[in-house]
Amino acid sequence: IKRIGVLTSGGDAPGMNAAVRAVVRKGIFHGLTIFGVHRGYEGLIHGEIQEMSIGSVADIVLRGGTVLKTARSEEMKTPAGQQKALAQLQERKIDALVVIGGDGSFRGAQTLVAQGVKVAGIPGTIDNDIAGTDLTIGFDTAVNTVVDAVSKIRDTASSHDRTFIVEVMGRNCGNIALQAGLACGAESILVPEIPYDLDEISNKLLRGHQRGKNHSIILVAEGVGSAYKIGEELHVRSGFETRITVLGHLQRGGNPSALDVVIAAAMGGKAVEILMANETNRMTAYINQGVVSRPLDDAYGPRRPLNRELYDLANQLSI
Ligand code: F6P
Repeated sequence: IKRIGVLTSGGDAPGMNAAVRAVVRKGIFHGLTIFGVHRGYEGLIHGEIQEMSIGSVADIVLRGGTVLKTARSEEMKTPAGQQKALAQLQERKIDALVVIGGDGSFRGAQTLVAQGVKVAGIPGTIDNDIAGTDLTIGFDTAVNTVVDAVSKIRDTASSHDRTFIVEVMGRNCGNIALQAGLACGAESILVPEIPYDLDEISNKLLRGHQRGKNHSIILVAEGVGSAYKIGEELHVRSGFETRITVLGHLQRGGNPSALDVVIAAAMGGKAVEILMANETNRMTAYINQGVVSRPLDDAYGPRRPLNRELYDLANQLSI
């Protein structure tokens, strides 16, 4: 392996830049030529590819977003798009690719593996919804962003004696809601993995009220359904004034946390090592506090179930 491409794909996540920087600098350290592919598979298909120098990744280690830009590519799902992507790599004699993104991005990568391209995947998504790794790049930062936002919301909630329903991202996964909910002492946490009972939540609000507690934060993972509907139903059941905040894409931005940067750097380095060892169809994974290499197919295995123990504890702490 002499020439490696690197791209970011799918939703951006804080820490992706640190991973790109690690791929570029470690690759150059070992005498390889590294190419940055802009706009994910969209850019690959259209040949938006540039050689990266050491300086091209200066000052990005702590920057949110992705300097390579990203996209969700429909064309890469088609055989014609996959052929175009392959042709762009072949034209530049790029024989290996580091793909930083979520499981959709990995599926695109595997179509290239089938055509002989060596691929190492790096799990990058705020959702932490990829099997085979304990953490994905960006999750820790997103959780911290939610905690920060909720603490601000709590100030106004307690001033007005209101119940706030705060909707967080995560697609079909409740990990952001659970971790952030526990960290910010949310009164209830609703996740798609576990059924909820609005009567029970309403009774909890009423019990709190009897103890003199007049504001609450209910964290709802987006996979549960509309926070507006839940707010309305809770208002009807409890009589409390409710307000809704959908945190949305602010959860994707911001400087990455130190943990995300460290994981991203280690994964970027590991991805280069995988390709230098002539391996392919692998992913980097954070397991037991360390970064390891494992088959890319593991990303599609059964996802680690939501931490039920933590969920139960969060409920016990917010009686
Ligand atoms: O996968 C990351 C994520 O932010 C999800 O949490 C969310 O459901 C989705 O992407 C939003 O996607 P988009 O930015 O394309 O609207």
